[in-house]
Amino acid sequence: MEVVILPDADAVARLAADRVAAVVRRRPDAVLGLATGSSPTGTYARLAAAVAAGELDLSRASGFALDEYVGIPREHPESYASVIRRTVTEPLGMDPARVHVPDGRAADLAAAAEEYDRAIATAGGVDVQLLGIGANGHIGFNEPTSSFASRTRIKTLAPRTRADNARFFDDPDEVPTHCLTQGLGTILEARELLLVAQGEAKAEAVAAAVEGPLSSMCPASALQLHRRAAVLVDEAAASRLRLADYYRYTYAHKPGWQGA
Ligand code: F6R
Repeated sequence: MEVVILPDADAVARLAADRVAAVVRRRPDAVLGLATGSSPTGTYARLAAAVAAGELDLSRASGFALDEYVGIPREHPESYASVIRRTVTEPLGMDPARVHVPDGRAADLAAAAEEYDRAIATAGGVDVQLLGIGANGHIGFNEPTSSFASRTRIKTLAPRTRADNARFFDDPDEVPTHCLTQGLGTILEARELLLVAQGEAKAEAVAAAVEGPLSSMCPASALQLHRRAAVLVDEAAASRLRLADYYRYTYAHKPGWQGA
């Protein structure tokens, strides 16, 4: 796993956007794995700026969101379908027909989840998966004790996740109790993983994911199983990493042929 400690959230966004852009420049019809929440917003803003400046074209790329709430309408401003449209599809100039979000309103949620995994496979798999991390170590909405082999499925949100996400809703009781989320097994099939984390509130989860034991109690520790996973963190999110100096040294001495 590559761990890159950067001075601030802006530097995290810049490097994450550069890495996603590099994938798309190599392969204009790349398949992007899309996270929602606060963590990737700076990355999306940087990518949108590159698109607006004519430096990047995402019109042929596809996208698959990690997750969606169950039980709120697609049109709700905080449904992930709405969030992805507002923060990704439109500003990045992606083709809406190529951007997918699990269907949290499906009459048969289990079938919709299976169909989502099939759609990812049909698209050729995800080239680069952007991830945030929950304070409880979740990625996607794979809450603690999620199986490393899990596929896209219905999950019950942990009370901590509902409390953390209450900031997006007028009333905390409005936060859905369930979701559809790509499984850890689904996420691990992406060819490259890029986890971004900023702020002290993520420090413990980042340390558990990177340096803790491989454990379903910290679902993000699944990244340790991936051959191409990078964790991009600001100083605050890195503050509990025991080997921080080694990661700094490694990145400072990264061979040029490995790219940024
Ligand atoms: C969202 C997602 C979640 C978030 C995580 C962090 O699609 O999959 O895992 O990345 O809850 O959320 P923020 O970034 O809002 O702190």
